[in-house]
Amino acid sequence: MLRFCYLLLLFSLLTSCDLKIFKDAESEIELEVQQKDKPLSSSIDPEKGKVVYFANCTSCHNYDPKKPGSIGPQIYGSSKELLTLKMNFGKYPENYQPKRSSKLMPLLPHLSQKITNLHAFLNAPAE
Ligand code: HEC
Repeated sequence: MLRFCYLLLLFSLLTSCDLKIFKDAESEIELEVQQKDKPLSSSIDPEKGKVVYFANCTSCHNYDPKKPGSIGPQIYGSSKELLTLKMNFGKYPENYQPKRSSKLMPLLPHLSQKITNLHAFLNAPAE
């Protein structure tokens, strides 16, 4: 009988250890998932802005936004307000002196979701 009790004790000890290992592994996985989610939900990505810029702006603006392009002026350092007004409405912030007086740039309202990343690219510090 005593032997049986020892066995039972040993068995319960072993299983409780196992359980603990399982729990540790589980919480590690949870942590990984949380870390993966984090940058996705709140990221501002100048690299993505660069892709948007090269795909949509460089037919007129220079590949280097610090230089004037074929038709459009240099736009490095543009504020988010300027980008939003110019791309959505063809307007400029109040009291802003436009670099060109022409009105050639088309409206690009379909890109309004990308302005945060565009802004990050256009205001990124020099490499
Ligand atoms: C078809 C040519 C063309 C395209 C494409 C274009 N632009 Fe322009 N952009 C211009 C021209 C030309 C001007 C000068 C003002 C005008 O004529 O509208 C300008 C002016 C601007 C200005 C105002 C600059 C200032 O400080 O006075 C901003 C900001 C700007 N563009 C951003 C963009 C961004 C961002 C994109 C891409 C998402 C883009 N443009 C795509 C032609 C273009």
